[in-house]
Amino acid sequence: MPVDSILERGIVILDGREVIRSVTIDAGIIEGIYEPGFEPLASEKINCEGLYILPGAIDIHVHMRDMGQEDKEEYSTGTMAAAAGGVTSVVDMPNSIPPTVTLNDLEEKIAIAREKRYVNVGFYAGIPKIVSDVSQDWLPHILGFKVYPHAPLTEGTRYTKERIKECMELSAKYGIPLLFHPASTEKRERPKTHDEFFRLHSCENEVESLKQFLAVKAEVYESRLHVCHVSCGATARLILENRAEDTITAEVTPHHLFLSGGEFSHDDGRAKMVPPLRSPHDNEVLQQVLCSTGGIDCVVTDHAPHETFEKRLPFMDADSGIPGLETIVPLMLTAVFEEKVSWLDYLRVCSSGPARILGIAGKGVLAKGYDADVTVVSKENWEIRGKDFHSKAKITPFEGRSVKARPVITIVGGELVYSYGGFFTDPGVVGRVPLRRLR
Ligand code: DOR
Ligand code: ZN
Ligand code: ZN
Repeated sequence: MPVDSILERGIVILDGREVIRSVTIDAGIIEGIYEPGFEPLASEKINCEGLYILPGAIDIHVHMRDMGQEDKEEYSTGTMAAAAGGVTSVVDMPNSIPPTVTLNDLEEKIAIAREKRYVNVGFYAGIPKIVSDVSQDWLPHILGFKVYPHAPLTEGTRYTKERIKECMELSAKYGIPLLFHPASTEKRERPKTHDEFFRLHSCENEVESLKQFLAVKAEVYESRLHVCHVSCGATARLILENRAEDTITAEVTPHHLFLSGGEFSHDDGRAKMVPPLRSPHDNEVLQQVLCSTGGIDCVVTDHAPHETFEKRLPFMDADSGIPGLETIVPLMLTAVFEEKVSWLDYLRVCSSGPARILGIAGKGVLAKGYDADVTVVSKENWEIRGKDFHSKAKITPFEGRSVKARPVITIVGGELVYSYGGFFTDPGVVGRVPLRRLR
């Protein structure tokens, strides 16, 4: 019996080296990786000569909006952006409208995502005001809990030491990570001036917030803490000093790795996000900690779509957040082709690392027996243009940036989803929703 399909004679990374191999897929699973000339028969063939065959990226930090905010993004457009960008799994944050803080909210979200998906979608839950309202029934649906100490998802919640401890105990009880956005917990008015904004979202506050969580973490040692979008060199160093195996993990975004605030005019809302862009020195430390020391486990987009009119505004009036699903793989692979990131680091931070942090079963590695979530990439020079995004969010601070890699074919669960600008499945057909953990 022939296998279902074969990606023929592409460049595969084995032991950190580029080699020519064919990848076969059967029943949604990678059936084998073969030297040319030794492949089994296949029903369908895709010629990959000159192209890279890589595991799809797994992005564990995205905001898919939908529900009350379809004008910013929907699961369809967001997951099409993912597929076009070489991202085969996304994990959705709970700061939607309504926030995901009940089982009902979760189930509603999952039902919509299931219908509109083009890739795998996993979910986080927020933590309700009364922490004990979380029950065992939530667990099959979620990969972690997410908290925003500076902007709690429920009215009247404060991230005091007691509350942080309760959240960590919840993570320990259910054996899933607590993700947190490091930021000042002090209750303040929305910043009105540039100075107030940058003081509120300063590196000092990012570091202080992490220290506060680490102090509680030391008391609840069975908990798992994941630090979201580390943006400052000092925060990265603090994580490095405090890491113990996988009980503390961390992520960084391409914009905090490759952009600094000084590249944008003082009043440009297009590069506004929280945490904000920092200095070239922070870029450098983050790159080092990500690659040489392994102190940061993965790269995520923090894909936070907003409408064009919400971004084309003076800095203080613009919404915070930028799209990232269509730029993460090109940017990270450009760093590989420029020899700033090794192949082994790329595979670790974009695919296997994120799967490991969340315990996602059978994904994140291009090897026999794993799910056939694959992206095929062409090494070519092109310029990032927001107008070409499939995401509804078209404003990117990477506008005009030259990159050296373009995802051209994306396969999810063995099915061809995207090829050279076109989509080959209907929404709601491929991928797993929700993504589940290893038991
Ligand atoms: O810039 C941001 N945008 N930072 C966040 O923490 C939230 C996000 C959003 O949801 O728009
Ligand atoms: Zn955040
Ligand atoms: Zn976010």
